[in-house]
Amino acid sequence: MSSRRSNPERAAEERLRRIARERLPEGLAVLVLRQAWAEFLVRVGGRLRFRANENDRAVRAYRAMSVADFEGVNARQKWANWRTIPRNLHGRLPARACRAVDLCSGVGDSTEVLACYLPEGSEILGLECSPEFVARARARSYRDAAGRPVKTGFRVQSVLEPFRDDADALLPDESVDLVNCCGALALNFQEGQLDLLAAEIRRVLRAGALAAIDAPAERDGKERTIRLFGRRGFEALGSARSCRLDRYAQICFRRDGR
Ligand SMILES: C[S@@+](CC[C@H](N)C(=O)[O-])C[C@H]1O[C@@H](n2cnc3c(N)ncnc32)[C@H](O)[C@@H]1O
Repeated sequence: MSSRRSNPERAAEERLRRIARERLPEGLAVLVLRQAWAEFLVRVGGRLRFRANENDRAVRAYRAMSVADFEGVNARQKWANWRTIPRNLHGRLPARACRAVDLCSGVGDSTEVLACYLPEGSEILGLECSPEFVARARARSYRDAAGRPVKTGFRVQSVLEPFRDDADALLPDESVDLVNCCGALALNFQEGQLDLLAAEIRRVLRAGALAAIDAPAERDGKERTIRLFGRRGFEALGSARSCRLDRYAQICFRRDGR
């Protein structure tokens, strides 16, 4: 990593790596191999096109997958989340309990990382289209950095519909401090759908609150996402990715109106 980093930045990066190793001890090489084998079985056996950029098709593929298959194909994403999310949020979260929404939360791997890094007393709502993945996510426990339990809720819904909580109530306007998404928006959604999502994310976020949104890491794809969210009143504060080879990044946006 860069030698131009200040001491506090270097310490934050070392802490992040230590936590990532503690919470997910398996190395990247093992996870990549596991994922390649799981993808082979899912593609050949089930003919599931979960990397489709038409969302309907991706949703059908994910809903047809077992939790075990999904855990295989999500292995690299799980590793990346422990690096990308904390780097992207570092120094940007409010110093008080937050209300966060994790879009396309899968079996809760991204939610687990948020739980670890959000301030004490925060709550997280995961929205996910697969009932089986939601059942798995609900069965897990979520802990903050000090090992304290974190309150979570999960709801089965498409994120292309207005966001609701786990008791079915529409999320009120300007009630959320952070919307997060990993491993979904950059791949499984088309431009019109991303625009719809950006509008809904803006509706639920408080003025000045954050949206951490996955995007292609290459320049054109990243700039497209920044323009699209920019038209809905978001300012890009920076971006992060898990490692230099990661083809996806996460952009940190701030909602206007503060
Ligand atoms: C690669 S996984 C990422 C899961 C999780 N965010 C993580 O980082 O581990 C993408 C997830 O997006 C979900 N998804 C795709 N389209 C969706 C939609 N329209 N509404 C809700 N979930 C969706 C899929 O079911 C899948 O669980």
